[in-house]
Amino acid sequence: MTDYRDFTWTDANKAEADRIIALYPPGRQASAIMPLLWLAQYQMRDETGIAWLPVPVIEYVAAQIGMPYIRAYEVASFYTMYNLKPVGRYHVQLCGTTPCLLRGSDEIMKACKDKGLKKGATTADGLFTLTEVECLGACANAPMVQINDDNYEDLTYDSMTGILDMLARGETPKVGSQIGRTASCPEGGPTTLTEMA
Ligand code: FES
Repeated sequence: MTDYRDFTWTDANKAEADRIIALYPPGRQASAIMPLLWLAQYQMRDETGIAWLPVPVIEYVAAQIGMPYIRAYEVASFYTMYNLKPVGRYHVQLCGTTPCLLRGSDEIMKACKDKGLKKGATTADGLFTLTEVECLGACANAPMVQINDDNYEDLTYDSMTGILDMLARGETPKVGSQIGRTASCPEGGPTTLTEMA
């Protein structure tokens, strides 16, 4: 794939796209735009190693459901889950919304900066892209980041630094709470109804 104009679904994704489109009643196929863009972004990642949506890919998806390109672009540019520029191998999405801010997201941002990541940019080695995003729905375990498909929660400066170091070495850090919480249980385990725990 050179300029992405030859983007077409793989056989498996063609079947998945057809399944998604069939979920909507006749005349409402435009409603499939979000899952189709998401599917296309995954296919781009699988085929090129970079999860993003170049213009010809958005055009391809829009044409499939009879939607003007500009409307598909409006969707793709509204949500931070769609990447309109190439990202690094690890896309670090750092939540800076109030609960994460109150729980120390500034320290997490500092850990990223101290490792050479810059907000809105990709590191020269192509490993990391840092994006500050709004709430990612894991506020109970703030502060947190999402890296590619995984959440890392209950972060500190040190644990964030460790995660970035491990990724840079090609290792797989533990996902989820970094202090051992199960989902959003209280720190240290249950404090009420303990006999039922
Ligand atoms: S405020 Fe950060 S996950 Fe909700």
